[in-house]
Parts: sequence; structure tokens; C-alpha cells
Amino acid sequence: MRIDIITCLPKLLEGPFSDSILKRAQDKGLVEVVVHDLRPYSTNKHRTTDDYAFGGGAGMVMMIEPIDRCISFLKESRHYDEVIYMSPDGELLTQNLANQLSLCKNLIMLCGHYKGVDERVREHLITREISIGDYVLSGGELAAAVVADSVIRLIPGVLSDETSALTDSFQDGLIAPPVYTRPAEYKGWKVPDVLLSGHTSKIEEWRQEKAIERTKERRPNLI
Ligand code: ADE
Repeated sequence: MRIDIITCLPKLLEGPFSDSILKRAQDKGLVEVVVHDLRPYSTNKHRTTDDYAFGGGAGMVMMIEPIDRCISFLKESRHYDEVIYMSPDGELLTQNLANQLSLCKNLIMLCGHYKGVDERVREHLITREISIGDYVLSGGELAAAVVADSVIRLIPGVLSDETSALTDSFQDGLIAPPVYTRPAEYKGWKVPDVLLSGHTSKIEEWRQEKAIERTKERRPNLI
């Protein structure tokens, strides 16, 4: 899979992809994440990528031309399954959506800023809009990193067996059950006996029970 992220603040995206699982996935060649600074695609003297809103009002609007030029440049080299705009009024990110996106070969993610992008970008250049929640971030970069993380960890080979995505919360429609590690007792707080029993089917049964109990308690809408 290849993910191209278009942003006017590329530095914001340096951290999330340079460590841990996302870095290993790139090192193993399972995913390529390429961050594109929008600025060089601007044709004006000061390489600006935003301008005042027609009709007035506070806040700058991201211009269509640099975005169009960047997307067109990328499309010259490959076909993209989706051109995604990160926006608080987009479709809400869910595990189901992450699963769908993990089947794609090439994705573009466009990060908005200021008051957003010229509406013509959304009308003509974007195929999908995604929100990571009902709150407004300063820009789409952190949201793009969240979406990319949720997608990349689902690519076969990215996670080892012990971190398998199949046991994640939401993957089977349930919240994951509690987990414990050594010591078996700390300050008198004990690990449930069943987990120390070595009885695999009983442990599985307990985990399933706890997952259902937790989901009913915390996220009844998922049941
Ligand atoms: N940009 C700003 N806020 C956002 C959000 N909640 N989701 C996705 N992109 C955003």
C-alpha cells in the first residue's frame, strides 16, 4: 500500500511515522507513506497556499490550484483508490471504515487548515471525506495520522501474532477484554484465577464473557 499525504505543514507528520509499528511497516516494505508539502505546488510569488474567502469573513481558505497540481502530479504515476479529505464534517472513522481502506492499494489524504479548502476541491477532486470525531482540530494532519495508523496496522504482516489486529477492540464488534501481566499479585490486587489456570478454553470463555460485559457497560450501542 502507498499513502500520499498532502499538507501545508509537513513537519507535523514527521513524528507519527518514524517510530514503532508504523516505522517497522515501512521498513518491511509493507507500506510507503509519502508526505507532500503543498507549498512548492503554488505558482504565486510567495508560494502561498491560502487566500481570503470570497464574500469576506474571518479565516483563510486553502486555494484549489496548488492542491489540484499536487494531486494531478501524483495521479500521473499511479491510480488512486480514494482521494480523501480530512474534515470534521466527513464520514466518521470506524473500525469498519479502517478495514475497508486497508484493502486499498493507493490512497491520497489531503489535510485541511484554516477555514478549510475551496469548496471546488471537495466537489471535483475528492472522492471521500473522513472525520476522526465530532470536534475540530487545528488541521487535518493529526487526523490523517490517526486514519493512516488505523489502516496500516491492518495490512497483513504489519502486526506479529501476539499483537494481532483480530483481538483489537471493535474488530469483532466488541470492546477487548481486560489483560494482566506479572506479578500475579500486587499490593493484594490479584489477577483473576482463571488466567493463571492454563486452561485455554476456560480462558477464552472468560475473555468472551468479559468482552460482552464491558461492551454492554461502556458501549451498549455496539451490542
Ligand atoms: N480537521 C479538523 N478537525 C478534524 C476532525 N475532527 N477530523 C478530521 N479532520 C479534521
